Amino acid sequence: ETTTVAIIGAGPAGLTLANLLQRSGIDCVVLEARSRTYVERRQRAGILDNAAGQIFAEYGLADRVLANAPLEQLLEIRYQGEPRFLDVPGLAGGRAGHLVPQQLLVQRLLAAFTEDGGDLRFESLDVTLHDLDSERPWVTYRDAAGSERELRCSYVAGCDGFHGVSRRSIPEAALTTYTFEHGIGWFTVLADAPAPRYPLMGISQHGFAAQFARGPAASRFYLQYRTGVDPRQWPDEYIWQQLRLRLGDDRLPTGPVTERDVVEMRSFVVDPMAYGRLFLVGDAAHIITPMGAKGMNLALADAQVLARAVITAERDGDDADLRAYTDVCLRRTWNYQEFSRWFTEMVHDAGDDSASGPFRRQLAKARLDRLFTSPPAAAAFADLMAGTQFDA
Ligand code: APR
Repeated sequence: ETTTVAIIGAGPAGLTLANLLQRSGIDCVVLEARSRTYVERRQRAGILDNAAGQIFAEYGLADRVLANAPLEQLLEIRYQGEPRFLDVPGLAGGRAGHLVPQQLLVQRLLAAFTEDGGDLRFESLDVTLHDLDSERPWVTYRDAAGSERELRCSYVAGCDGFHGVSRRSIPEAALTTYTFEHGIGWFTVLADAPAPRYPLMGISQHGFAAQFARGPAASRFYLQYRTGVDPRQWPDEYIWQQLRLRLGDDRLPTGPVTERDVVEMRSFVVDPMAYGRLFLVGDAAHIITPMGAKGMNLALADAQVLARAVITAERDGDDADLRAYTDVCLRRTWNYQEFSRWFTEMVHDAGDDSASGPFRRQLAKARLDRLFTSPPAAAAFADLMAGTQFDA
């Protein structure tokens, strides 16, 4: 069996790439290890930045993907309970993002791809990549019925996330990896508590906390915890008490907790993001902390760069964009990694409870205050939140 692009993984990266290629008449097949139900239910990210929204608009997918998704408005930051508001879209020249829970985005991308006849194969197991450094790579896997299958292609898109098979299929000697432990743990709680009026962050000596909408009747909360503690043992009452304290709202409406998990704040980047005819996209190539909400948006940005490069190669026989793939994607990735670290230091006690902690907390406060006192500082922040057009 043959296709032009074999896409491994049906998360935000794989599904966006599949839709962009399909809309451009490039043949592709998506191989996803899990079931459709699993993929449609994974709730992780929640914000499509303005640059990501423009990708869907450029390919005529905005109405199907962004339909009635609320536009980003103000960001509320409470410092020791004192509320202050940032008009992020306004500061970015009107470039607003959309509040779209990841599972809704994935459902819509799945529907758009399959409704237009897209070939998406769930429960494809033991995906193995072959001859990646040749002109004709190929992929083997076991299909949902248990039969061994073979797929010949011109390109392989590794959209299989951090734990996928793609990055591991590249010889170690060909890769440089960068990792960074922020020394901060986040306890994340999904609850049927009414969404906040605006995305909300609380900064105080009690530690960072945040509340974001996940649909009108659900909220995702984050609470910073000291590494060494296991917050999954915290009783619900303690969680709500901590949230009221940190968000500075003793009337915070509560609701049943539906999910709780811990997130170790770590960052990862691999260089290059390509090997022969294999191109890594999204979490397969980089991991970023949730600060600044760039994880999903980086995945979509990579997918757009790869789609454009494959289209140019297939239509004009020009592989310049394919050869530039890593540089274009890593320029944005490193800028967003820097932004995410800058943001993390600003709203946490810089993750530092050592002797230099007090001094760094003062730096963090100065950094935060500048957003409300210096228009150029606020504009630079808003530009990164909207999604900087590095290669416009
Ligand atoms: N074979 C086939 N599919 C695989 C394999 C494999 N070996 N390994 C993983 N997958 C699938 C997973 O089941 C998942 O559906 O690949 C998909 C990877 O999706 P994500 O992990 O979401 O990665 P990506 O699409 O890059 O999205 C990255 O979106 O999940 C949010 O904010 C989160 O930063 C993250 C961003």
